[in-house]
Amino acid sequence: MIAIYPGSFDPITLGHLDIIKRGCRLFDDVIVAVLRNPNKTPLFTVQERIEQIRLSTRSLPNVEVDSFDGLTVNYARIRGAGVLLRGLRVLSDFEHELQMAHTNKTLDDRIETVFLATSNEYSFLSSSLVKEIARFGGSVDHLVPQHVALDIYRCYAKNLPASNPIVMDASPKVNYPTVDREV
Ligand code: PNS
Repeated sequence: MIAIYPGSFDPITLGHLDIIKRGCRLFDDVIVAVLRNPNKTPLFTVQERIEQIRLSTRSLPNVEVDSFDGLTVNYARIRGAGVLLRGLRVLSDFEHELQMAHTNKTLDDRIETVFLATSNEYSFLSSSLVKEIARFGGSVDHLVPQHVALDIYRCYAKNLPASNPIVMDASPKVNYPTVDREV
């Protein structure tokens, strides 16, 4: 059984990684699919996010990272997937996630949505929160993979946290513009 784990992943967090690792044990293959969304201005390009996720999941042999646009169920059908995997953190996630699951079911009732309860320690965590913390100079080392934290600090270079004075010396994983990005 192939599962698609769709999302924005701007950027991937330890909460996402928790879902991917646990999904890997449940399904033969997990395809982490980054939505190409022209209506959003992300911090990282789709290609940057794909690279970040690939690096974060390199020890997981049954994970593939890809991008898609349009409807998730169409992408799932093309990839031969029977499951859409989503994480549930708190009650407030539930309404929107249930609405998406029902909508997707009306579009293709052979594709099931499977929810995994996010592990307790990540129940508060979101990509938006990570960006907000970094934007105001806080450390996100405990919230995202280390290489992603460095990528984020580069984007908010003017507000480097004091605990990370070395980040500007680290070799970039991908080529970023030197200008600050506002998100
Ligand atoms: O990480 P996110 O932003 O919560 O992911 C949301 C995502 C990408 C899963 C959702 O927006 C999505 O599936 N978009 C593709 C368009 C689609 O299929 N819409 C119908 C289902 S609501």
